[in-house]
Amino acid sequence: SFKHRVFSGIQPSGNLTLGNYLGAVKRFVEMQDSGIETIYCVVDLHAITVWQDPEKLRHATRELAAAYIACGLDPTRSILFNQSQVSAHAELGWLFNCVARLGWMNRMTQFKDKAGKNAEKASLGLYAYPSLMAADILTYQATHVPVGEDQKQHVELARDIAGKFNHDYGTEYFPLPEPIIEGAATRVMSLRDGTKKMSKSDPSDLSRINLTDDADTIAKKIKKAKTDPEPLPDSVDGLDGRPEAKNLVSIYAALSGKSKADVIAEFAGQQFGAFKPALADLAVAELSPITARMSDLMADPAEIDRILGDGADRAAALAEPVLAGAKDVMGF
Ligand code: ADP
Ligand code: NA
Repeated sequence: SFKHRVFSGIQPSGNLTLGNYLGAVKRFVEMQDSGIETIYCVVDLHAITVWQDPEKLRHATRELAAAYIACGLDPTRSILFNQSQVSAHAELGWLFNCVARLGWMNRMTQFKDKAGKNAEKASLGLYAYPSLMAADILTYQATHVPVGEDQKQHVELARDIAGKFNHDYGTEYFPLPEPIIEGAATRVMSLRDGTKKMSKSDPSDLSRINLTDDADTIAKKIKKAKTDPEPLPDSVDGLDGRPEAKNLVSIYAALSGKSKADVIAEFAGQQFGAFKPALADLAVAELSPITARMSDLMADPAEIDRILGDGADRAAALAEPVLAGAKDVMGF
């Protein structure tokens, strides 16, 4: 019986996308606002599993913190901090490297996707990343982890690590954290290829919508989004086999708070030429205030650093006793 506690994180590996917003940050805010204890991290140690220019990393870390706040996370109601400032993450990560099994890591599909054909050149950190992610979650004994669909396998690995630790040492020390994957847009797809995830860290895909895009850019990107020539179907089932259409309808549903069925009822039989401007208006209405607030916040980097520093102190106060307890269990 662990206290209900939410943990999640995002890598400062580039500008946040509409996918990160709908799949993650918007959900983070809902959980904060529901009154649960919430801890949200800028996972900079994860970002360096692939090359990061140091100055860009420093900027992206502040920008992600600004995005969190601009989207509605409140540093007085959630703990907001960056991972590298709380050393318990890295230390528990090592302990978990000795709990996780090679066979488990070999099954991680994201490593295969990110490492590509030349896996020999990937960093050891990219391979071990899910074990560090387990430490991120479990050093707070967090019970719930809101994530997009692509992170489900990693949260399941965190459960496996917690379970093996508990079993091997004959304790109930760590909770088995649950992934929370809810809402209409748990996997927002690329606007130029409905079979690929929209990602901030794919440099080749310029079709993605970023939180820092202005209204014109958002409208242009939605207008250019790939679609098939058919009009919108008259039932949700009619979206099967039409990944681009399904993606745009899902984005509309997530932005408007309506169900996909309601969106279909509203636009059944209409052409995408009519649907896209409505979608663009909705996206601009939601994102414009966030963009403006982010740029205000970025004008005062010292204040962002202060907020992250304060968050790190509060995070460390929770993490360090949990780490100390795990070490004690292990015989240190
Ligand atoms: P990215 O893959 O864009 O580099 P991260 O790996 O830092 O982003 O993931 C941050 C969070 O955003 C995770 O919870 C992830 O599941 C979620 N997320 C990332 N891309 C998408 C997407 N296209 N649709 C929905 N959620 C997403
Ligand atoms: Na991801």
